[in-house]
Amino acid sequence: METLGSVSTLRSRRIILFPLPFQGHINPMLQLANILHTRGFKITIIHAEYNSPNPSNYPHFAFKPIKDRFSEIADQLATNRDGTYFARYLNKSCVDSFIDCLAELLAEPGEERVACVITDACFYFTQAVADDLKLPRIVLRTSGLGCTLACDALPFCSKKACFYLTKQDSDYEASVPEFPLLKFKDITNITINPQGMGDLTSNILNQMRASSGIIWNTFKELEESDLETLSQDFQVPSFTLGPFHKYFPASGSSLIEQDRTILSWLDKQPPKSVVYVSFGSVAHITKSEFQEVAHGLANMGLPFLWVVRPGMVVGSEWLEALPEKFLERMGERGRIVKWSPQQEVLAHPATGCFWTHNGWNSTLESICEGVPMICSPCLADQPINARYVSDVWKIGVLLEDGFERVGIKMAIKRVMMDKEGEEMRERVSSLKEKSVNVWQIQWHVTKLQKQWSCGAFGDYM
Ligand code: UDX
Repeated sequence: METLGSVSTLRSRRIILFPLPFQGHINPMLQLANILHTRGFKITIIHAEYNSPNPSNYPHFAFKPIKDRFSEIADQLATNRDGTYFARYLNKSCVDSFIDCLAELLAEPGEERVACVITDACFYFTQAVADDLKLPRIVLRTSGLGCTLACDALPFCSKKACFYLTKQDSDYEASVPEFPLLKFKDITNITINPQGMGDLTSNILNQMRASSGIIWNTFKELEESDLETLSQDFQVPSFTLGPFHKYFPASGSSLIEQDRTILSWLDKQPPKSVVYVSFGSVAHITKSEFQEVAHGLANMGLPFLWVVRPGMVVGSEWLEALPEKFLERMGERGRIVKWSPQQEVLAHPATGCFWTHNGWNSTLESICEGVPMICSPCLADQPINARYVSDVWKIGVLLEDGFERVGIKMAIKRVMMDKEGEEMRERVSSLKEKSVNVWQIQWHVTKLQKQWSCGAFGDYM
């Protein structure tokens, strides 16, 4: 883990942070909070009751839970494929309690001035609240720059049929004119509700433009040209402070207990031999897709570590849908766990590749450990991240035909055994070398601090 020097200036400034209550959003927000804490800021986390972080892992922060009414819809998480629904719901259900909580915090007597509120970009309603209170709002965008550019360009609200194409349509494999890196088959995976996605993304992007600045969990060398494109359209300052996890691990904010017993199993495997498989915290797959994954792993003959999150397989509690005798045949060659210490697994010398859903955190974590990827994007930004991995950075193979055992076997061979895979490993190792730049992150945080201290974001009292 890299260390950031701490500073003693601005100790009287407090920052209030508000994460979206999902694993892939809580992790980076708490990591960012830690980074800012080491630079002298006091930290208050306002958080939804749903997926509440564990305050005892962060005794140096103050936590303020707010009512979110998420329990009224939480049982739909496994069945409702429209991911935008949950984010749009939270932008309504949290409004009153967030306003009350923020106003209360600002009225608290004490010497500390609140420098700003940092909220997840998906909590777009918070811009109007911050404006009313004359408090600067900085946005944390937890996905990559490429995702933001793509979401800005794609015609979600146009009612075009392009989001509903199937394999039988002649355009299915063609590039999307508005964002040629993506194929039509990629954008059909982003959402089942283009109109809802359009509403969500236009709200997010408009309120990012209205904010006082945007913090990105990325690093300059990875997305340099996108950063330039973006700065023409987003006139507010951008701060590339990532990759956050290289400074603070995500283990403290893990919502599921990480199974650490697998680390000693990894110790026994040859270098770069293990295929690590995980599809993140929200994606669901069908029973038949799950069985194709199992056959793919069984067929390839390499050691594997597979994270099967309880409830991930639609209609199953956990492993019931595995093919007959799978566990018996797997023996010591494989391990299946409910949740892993992912950053440690990716950093382990035995890990050879990461078969991932390409959530932004997973993608970044893999790059930062120099691990090439096999990409099985499921929804939202994942199909966009997967195209960057396979077609722009050329550090992984995209399973173009989804979960299908023959394609899986070929993809694993390409990454783990072929010359092509070696070249991917070289490219991702080179990105790994560039990923940690303590000087750069300190420069960005200092820039943020200067803007606060000279009142460039407004000077809230
Ligand atoms: C969600 C969206 O799916 C994704 O597209 C968006 O970019 C962020 O929110 P999620 O499924 O949570 O992502 O994936 P990801 O962004 O990769 O975050 C998962 C986090 O959980 C990572 O930090 C990873 O290290 C951690 N994790 C994952 C574990 O600690 N253990 C595991 O077994 C799997």
